[in-house]
Amino acid sequence: MKAIADANRDEIGFVNQAKLTQAVFEERIIVAILRKKVIGFVVFRHRKTDTQTTLSEICLDQALRGQGYGRELINALCRDCIKHGHSYIKLKCPVDLPANTFYECLGFQKIGTEMGKVRKLNIWELSVVETR
Ligand SMILES: CC(C)(COP(=O)(O)OP(=O)(O)OC[C@H]1O[C@@H](n2cnc3c(N)ncnc32)[C@H](O)[C@@H]1OP(=O)(O)O)[C@@H](O)C(=O)NCCC(=O)NCCS
Repeated sequence: MKAIADANRDEIGFVNQAKLTQAVFEERIIVAILRKKVIGFVVFRHRKTDTQTTLSEICLDQALRGQGYGRELINALCRDCIKHGHSYIKLKCPVDLPANTFYECLGFQKIGTEMGKVRKLNIWELSVVETR
């Protein structure tokens, strides 16, 4: 996972090993595995105060993009949301990234934009109930 994250630092920023390890221990990460090899992951948090699930990172091995694995990761996250009684996924994505089209294709709604530390961010939400 760390190798995939490091290869995509421009898109997802720096993700340190400790953060990934913590997410594994807390069961806040779903990995995509192909032929016994990790090819992608999504890191998230089911917020305790309400039914929001916050997606912090999603990343697929560059060589394996465009084959539906990213969609499968989001579908798996939706199933985990339902299991935990959570109703929507929220995330922020730099406005210049191709990933915005990915979220749109998957039915996320753009609910606004905001200025991040360095880049302008689109704010996307997906209602989990609607995708059941
Ligand atoms: C975003 C990412 C996870 C998508 O994973 P993926 O496996 O390539 O996506 P999928 O193959 O499941 O695509 C699902 C749909 O989104 C569309 N899509 C995905 N990436 C797209 C892109 N860059 N441009 C246009 N459409 C895209 C696909 O065409 C597909 O639509 P369809 O089912 O109607 O044909 C992957 O491109 C990635 O890891 N990017 C680098 C990291 C990143 O930017 N993360 C997000 C930071 S906010």
